[in-house]
Parts: sequence; structure tokens; C-alpha cells
Amino acid sequence: MEKNIFIHDHPLIQHKISLLRDKNTSTNAFRHLVEEIAMLMGFEALRDLPLCDVEVETPIETCMTPMLAGKKLVIVPILRAGLGMVNGLTALVPSARIGHIGLYRDEETHEPHEYYCKLPHPIEDRTIVVLDPMLATGGSAVAAVDFIKQRGGRSIKFMSIIAAPEGVRRLTEAHPDVQLYIGHLDRCLNEAAYICPGLGDAGDRIFGTK
Ligand code: PRP
Ligand code: URA
Repeated sequence: MEKNIFIHDHPLIQHKISLLRDKNTSTNAFRHLVEEIAMLMGFEALRDLPLCDVEVETPIETCMTPMLAGKKLVIVPILRAGLGMVNGLTALVPSARIGHIGLYRDEETHEPHEYYCKLPHPIEDRTIVVLDPMLATGGSAVAAVDFIKQRGGRSIKFMSIIAAPEGVRRLTEAHPDVQLYIGHLDRCLNEAAYICPGLGDAGDRIFGTK
């Protein structure tokens, strides 16, 4: 595996992803699982956040102790399904700023169409974590990273709960500098560009639409 691709093999993440795949999992349980998985993945994906020592007075004495340093983290969910992962990340970093990118896939061409983009400004010197539970053809991921780079973003991580090899290839070829965190790498895409075995349409399952 390339150095910028990290596949989570933690048993808790794998267990929860199996529950997500089950077509009988309720909307409410699905939503909670997406949030929990995002938090567990985020714990690992954020292990290189910069620290600096600050002075703190404990009940015993004064000491120098590490706290998060630098500009506030930016979280960018890809609408809609990425929204389901946001609370998992803000539970870890409550001070994070949140941008939004709205994209939907054309049902026939499977190419992404933009309908919204609002990002914190300035964004240049911040770590940016893009969230989307599904990396299928990779079209949405590449378009989202393109928008962020056009607006000056440089340090970008992309978190997806389930990815297809086709999407991983497309994203890493277009943006080799992006650090990609994947909960599980699935087998392939079907003729409708859905991930197999996957979990179906993530947005519909999170929001209870069809
Ligand atoms: C899904 C998913 C990703 C995209 C992945 O969103 O949440 O954004 O498809 O597919 P790709 O890798 O082939 O681009 P969708 O376009 O269905 O929109 P929704 O979240 O609003 O349902
Ligand atoms: N988007 C989804 O929500 N699921 C897939 O399997 C592919 C794209």
C-alpha cells in the first residue's frame, strides 16, 4: 500500500462496519454507527496533529504540558452523507471549524455535480479533514479536493468508511499528497457504480430517504 493510504484494521471498526452493511440495521442505529466509526477513525487519522507545551498549574505544582497547537482544524463533510460523520470528529476536536461541499452523482454518468461550497477562510495553514462515508468511483472525492485546493487548502486528509479500489486509484492519482484513511477496502464497483458488497446508498440510509 502507498504511504499516504491508511486502512483501519481495528476490530471495533470492523465490527461496526459489518453492522452498517446489514440491510436490516435501522436508520437510527445506522446514524449512530456512522458517528462512532468516524470518531474511532478520527482518533487515528489525527495522531499527527501538532502539539506545543503550555504552562498548567496542577493542584500539586506548575508544569509544562502538551496541548494542540496551530490554527484550528477544519472538517469538511461532502453533502449529504458526509454530514453523518461530523459529530464523530467534533467529539474529538470541539473547536474545529466546519466547511461544506455539496455534490451529487449523476445517476447515469456517475459524475459529480457541485451545488454548494462554503469553506472557512483563511484555510491555507489549517489541517483539513474531508468526510464522506463512501469512496466509489472517486469522482466526488477528486472534485471536493479540487475545490479545497483552489481555495488554498494544502494539508488535506480524506476519511471514508468504505472504499472501492477504483476510487482509491482515482483519488491517489489525482491528489497523491492527500492522506487517505479507509475503514474497509471493498471488492469492486457494480455496473451502477455502487460499492460491492458495500452498504447501499449511504445518504439514504443515514437520512431515511429512498
Ligand atoms: C454518494 C457518497 C459520495 C459519492 C461517492 O453521494 O456519499 O459522495 O456518492 O461516489 P463517487 O465516489 O462515485 O463519486 P451521492 O452523490 O449519492 O449524494 P448524497 O450523499 O446526497 O446521497
Ligand atoms: N454512493 C453510495 O452511497 N454508495 C455506493 O455504494 C456508491 C456511492
